[in-house]
Amino acid sequence: MELRQKVIVITGAAGGIGAAMARRFAADRPEGLVLSDRPGTALAPVIADAEAAGCATLSVTADVSAEAEVQALARAALDRFGRVDLFCSNAGVATGGLLDAPDRDWSQAWAVNAMAHVYAARAILPSMLERGSGYLLQTCSAAGLLVEVGDVPYTMSKHAAVAFAEWLAITYGSRGIGVSIICPQGVRTPMLMAGFEAGMLGPKIIAAAGNILEPEQVAETVVDGLRAERFLILPHLEVAGFWRRKAENPDRWLDGMRRLVRTTTGDTPAAPTTPATPAAPATPAAPTTPAAPTTPAGSGTSS
Ligand SMILES: NC(=O)c1ccc[n+]([C@@H]2O[C@H](COP(=O)([O-])OP(=O)(O)OC[C@H]3O[C@@H](n4cnc5c(N)ncnc54)[C@H](O)[C@@H]3O)[C@@H](O)[C@H]2O)c1
Repeated sequence: MELRQKVIVITGAAGGIGAAMARRFAADRPEGLVLSDRPGTALAPVIADAEAAGCATLSVTADVSAEAEVQALARAALDRFGRVDLFCSNAGVATGGLLDAPDRDWSQAWAVNAMAHVYAARAILPSMLERGSGYLLQTCSAAGLLVEVGDVPYTMSKHAAVAFAEWLAITYGSRGIGVSIICPQGVRTPMLMAGFEAGMLGPKIIAAAGNILEPEQVAETVVDGLRAERFLILPHLEVAGFWRRKAENPDRWLDGMRRLVRTTTGDTPAAPTTPATPAAPATPAAPTTPAAPTTPAGSGTSS
């Protein structure tokens, strides 16, 4: 798919990967860019940059964990531009939670990282099927193929997102609907950097496992992946190797992951606290000074 003269919706567009995609897509002169994020976020600078690049834009506030708001976003885009060619379901949340993460964190991860993609497809697919063409892009994560050691609600919800995209591609791929997923490992965005600053386990392991990319690099890979209509878009090419090794020999891969955690933190995971603890998202015990980053063969982790 070429982006020129397309109508494109992006969720989670106020910062990080979403904002980088908006700015990069704008350079390809789409017919319209509909940029959305949750209430309280600053879409204006991204809208201003897209308009400066000559794009017609629409800014829509929507919490993607609420189906009615995703429906309203799709309606606003259709009302303004008459169609949507590409819907980028990009918003996501990390929790930093382990086994004892509060249920509200599990629910939020599930709603934003998994169900929001379902809501997007329900909202926009009927109009795409009617026209016999359209494209759904989901920002998933390498955590949806592998494991984000420091965030189990994130890992589970991203695996669900990958599975949903596969199902969409199988079910609608022969009816003119394109589907792609982006599965980056570490990307320098507020999500990852906040985790670093909080000393969380996940970002430390991600840094040990591979390169941290800039969001602009991810956006460029996305444009290439969309142009090739590739289902699996991997900004970090090494993720393909980790994923293959996991499939070839899961036991060896799990061994490699355990070794990566040990060499990065010197820790074993903290025992879960009692499930009812209504505390802030659990972070693991403070890690000791990390050893020199090593990536055991066959491992890989992600945000
Ligand atoms: N940064 C990484 O290392 C990394 C790696 C792999 C995948 N990802 C994924 O990339 C996507 C973008 O994340 P990012 O890294 O740019 O982080 P980010 O925190 O900068 O961006 C996430 C965006 O999603 C928005 N958002 C969160 N909850 C929302 C909700 N309920 N409704 C609407 N918008 C909501 C946020 O306001 C924010 O603008 C996410 O899906 C994330 O899981 C990030």
